[in-house]
Amino acid sequence: MANLKLILVIGGTGAQGSPVVKALSESGRYAVRLLTRNTASDHAKKLAELPNVTLQRGSQDSQKDLHAAFTGVYGAWVNLDGFTLGEKNELFYGVRAYEIARHHGVKHYVFAKIDYGLRQAGWDEQYHCGHNDAKGRVGDLILSHGQSHSGMMTSVFTTGPYMDMLFDGMFVPEEQSDGSFVWENPAADGKIPLIALDDVGVYNLWIFDNPSESAGLDLEVATDQVSFAEIAATFTKVTGKKGVHKRVPLEDYLAKAEPYPGAYSNWTVTEPGVPRDESFMTWRENFTPWWRYWSEGHAATRDMALLDRIHGSRIPSLEAWMKAKNYDGRSRSVLKSIQDLKEKM
Ligand SMILES: *[C@@H]1O[C@H](CO)[C@@H](O)[C@H](O)[C@H]1NC(C)=O
Ligand SMILES: *[C@@H]1O[C@H](CO)[C@@H](O)[C@H](O)[C@H]1NC(C)=O
Repeated sequence: MANLKLILVIGGTGAQGSPVVKALSESGRYAVRLLTRNTASDHAKKLAELPNVTLQRGSQDSQKDLHAAFTGVYGAWVNLDGFTLGEKNELFYGVRAYEIARHHGVKHYVFAKIDYGLRQAGWDEQYHCGHNDAKGRVGDLILSHGQSHSGMMTSVFTTGPYMDMLFDGMFVPEEQSDGSFVWENPAADGKIPLIALDDVGVYNLWIFDNPSESAGLDLEVATDQVSFAEIAATFTKVTGKKGVHKRVPLEDYLAKAEPYPGAYSNWTVTEPGVPRDESFMTWRENFTPWWRYWSEGHAATRDMALLDRIHGSRIPSLEAWMKAKNYDGRSRSVLKSIQDLKEKM
């Protein structure tokens, strides 16, 4: 049997990481070392049942653990949990993980990020979202060092909001007594690049399988680029039920949507009232620029022809996704942090 290439996966138990672990394992070409704080969690144990997947206990924010994790691997797929780390720590550990990987002679490093909104929107501070920008800066730094086939190749994998958030989280509509479904949120009328989690694994397998093309590439993915009016209209087309987008002012929305008054962006893991570092955003500070950036259409720049070529059988549209999922506007659990929260409560 051919030797499998060993890939370290950081963030592998998350909503985006799990399909990457599955795709690597299923390919039969890679073995996965999954770094996780809790090797006994249900998520981790399930993934460890896949062929050639092993768990390694450790934290994304421990340099000692990162050294141990990167030792002896061919490649790495790194997606840090910015909500837990905060912008400042994510920047530090994002850079350190990359440096430590270089130290250990990793051959292909894949960094999963979100759009660098502040830069994309012309350095207007209104768009400074810690959750997006920490990853964006690290992505820029990594690619700025160039490619060397005798050293380390690097690729960046960029996602926008998950299409699956129509099931879970901020994109779930509210069912009205008359049977219609209303998306009441502050979204402007720009197109948002939504990515279906089902397609994330194939893209990352392609990145590892095709380093001659993927080295130096920032692969920006989306399944469809749609405005909220289009989401509501597609819902109506697919389900026959009335879908409505109702735009409300950011302030009104945030007051209603924030988990509790003054919640931090890491609200799922932090009790109210703990003192915070100046750099650490509150939920409102984080999601104000988040809604602005995505819904004004700044990121609807994905190269769909490239995505078609890389993943010929990708889910082609929001409409196709809604049909395949039997989408009915009701919530289902898909995002890890929300599940974690439910387990905690
Ligand atoms: C990978 O998994 C297969 C199926 O479980 C197993 O037969 C094989 O020995 C594993 N390979 C390595 C290198 O561990
Ligand atoms: C969440 O952020 C706050 C504010 O910086 C910090 O004090 C707290 O330790 C963080 N919680 C976790 C679990 O990281």
